[in-house]
Amino acid sequence: MAHQWRGVIREYMDRLPFTASDPVVTLGEGGTPLIEAPALAKLLDVGSVHLKFEGMNPTGSFKDRGMTTAVSKALGDGAKAVIAASTGNTSAAAAAYAVKAGMQSVVLVPAGKISWGKLSQAVAHKAQILQVRGNFDDCLRLARELSENYPVFLVNSVNPNRLQGQKTAAFEVVDVLGDAPDLHAMPLGNAGNISAYHLGYREEVADKRIKKQPMLYGIQAAGSAPFIQGSPVAKPETIATAIRIGNPASWDLAQEAKRDSGGAFGSVSDKEILWMHRFLSQETGVFVEPSSATGAAGLHKLRQLGELPKVNSIVITVTGHGLKDPDWALKDQNGRKIKPKKVAAAASSVAEILGLERK
Ligand code: F0G
Repeated sequence: MAHQWRGVIREYMDRLPFTASDPVVTLGEGGTPLIEAPALAKLLDVGSVHLKFEGMNPTGSFKDRGMTTAVSKALGDGAKAVIAASTGNTSAAAAAYAVKAGMQSVVLVPAGKISWGKLSQAVAHKAQILQVRGNFDDCLRLARELSENYPVFLVNSVNPNRLQGQKTAAFEVVDVLGDAPDLHAMPLGNAGNISAYHLGYREEVADKRIKKQPMLYGIQAAGSAPFIQGSPVAKPETIATAIRIGNPASWDLAQEAKRDSGGAFGSVSDKEILWMHRFLSQETGVFVEPSSATGAAGLHKLRQLGELPKVNSIVITVTGHGLKDPDWALKDQNGRKIKPKKVAAAASSVAEILGLERK
């Protein structure tokens, strides 16, 4: 009989702060595919590249891994409502898991700066949605303040239960490859994810499943790159709205992840992000939202500059599904809208447009 993946808490309970009697709120998150991408290996001139396709999670992003743990703990603590600040994916996940837990969710998003795919998820899962006149950093400040003074439970990644869930992605990589890759890259925004991978890989080393953790590479959008600037960015700007964050909450943990793993931070322009967004869909078959192409775009840039370390195996986490923010796929390289041709409902008309000769 086919085995159904049970979600990250049940699959990894012995490595998470949960026991069998704790409530578990799950939508079956985790167990996402690690997809070999020879086209990227060729582009980067390395032995192998695998994409950890986190868009395959129930709400379409890696956030579900941390939301199952955060909402389960909140339920165990008697919470009736959860609150999250978000650039879109956290709010989608918070809303869905709150429904599963029988709780209310409140989400604070930057007005006009989240994709409609993500907004539709929060609406679908009946979150109370407030569009804040400000950016993500303002939303997070408000969410923290509200959770301190009102009966709403904070489920942003400053909640340590989020990182506990998210670290399971590192476990899955090791389970599938049988080892850690040499280098692991991902987009870098509020810095929860790179901190969680660091936690996961460090535990794998401590448990002697791997000898060495991979070099962790966190890549930012150039207009929103506090880790490159070395200080918070007051007015972050990028088309990659998921990582449009100027004052990352997990600053210290990300610095530690970089230092401890011998990794690096990088940044790429919106143009470089969109180039890789297209490359991934056209050359690897993996459709991601633009922000999710940032990790691969960063490595490509380093390779072009001759600054990519000589490594054999690379894993790149692609964090969210392409359907989250599909508008970008419907534009050509020059930003013009792509409109598929209309045709009469006749085989001969279709064949003519396709330039097919009759057999
Ligand atoms: N990729 C996607 C698709 C994201 O949604 C995020 C963060 C990141 C990468 C960056 O991860 O913040 O852990 O460094 N999105 C958050 C949100 C901020 O509200 O959905 P990070």
